[in-house]
Amino acid sequence: MRLDLKRLFQKKQKQEHKILRQIQRTGDVLQSEYHRATPECPHPERWSMYDSMTAEVEVLEFLRTVVTTLKPELVVETGTFSGISTLSMAEGLKQNARGKVITCEFDPLVFADAKKRIESSGLAQWIECRNQSSLEMKVDGRIDLFFSDSDMPVREQEVRRFLPQINPYGLILMHDASSHLKQVREAALKLEAEGLISVVLLPTPRGLVIAQKREGRK
Ligand SMILES: C[S@@+](CC[C@H](N)C(=O)[O-])C[C@H]1O[C@@H](n2cnc3c(N)ncnc32)[C@H](O)[C@@H]1O
Repeated sequence: MRLDLKRLFQKKQKQEHKILRQIQRTGDVLQSEYHRATPECPHPERWSMYDSMTAEVEVLEFLRTVVTTLKPELVVETGTFSGISTLSMAEGLKQNARGKVITCEFDPLVFADAKKRIESSGLAQWIECRNQSSLEMKVDGRIDLFFSDSDMPVREQEVRRFLPQINPYGLILMHDASSHLKQVREAALKLEAEGLISVVLLPTPRGLVIAQKREGRK
């Protein structure tokens, strides 16, 4: 079991590096979403994406407008990858003229690449990048928006870990929660069944959970 997990992890790492090399060769190329159709999202091709790691373009737009709608002081993102979702949220923070996003990426190569993109974006003042695992990262203060987008098997643990710090009037977003990808969807529904969060499942190609912490909500 231990060995299998290690092999799976290494395979995934290679995939991330492969996509980054492709981005270095061609730049960000807009294309139709190619994740498979699901009962809740039968026409994924109506959405757009840059690559299979970065959130759908429409989800990126949603992240920016959630930030302008909620005016968070503190946003925490797990899984920076190439930094595109971080930059979408930072655009919202810039428009609000307040707040910051702390993003973590545990792969040093991926982290270095994201840092370069962020530093040349003109939005770096809104972003704090951490080369750390979401399961080790410590942040100070109350989290108004938590975007969970790291490795699918750790998403449940991540939400549990940061839940005490999450503002009950804020939002928790969990990406990759489609019925096809399963794991994140099931994790969100489990957390809901335990009474920890309330969940809405958005029918996007890869699925997006919008949730709110139950404790402290009035
Ligand atoms: C789906 S990608 C993130 C995509 C990015 N949020 C976007 O939409 O532009 C997931 C990233 O999380 C990183 N990752 C996986 N597990 C992690 C963890 N526990 N802590 C921090 N980063 C992690 C991976 O190396 C990968 O780059």
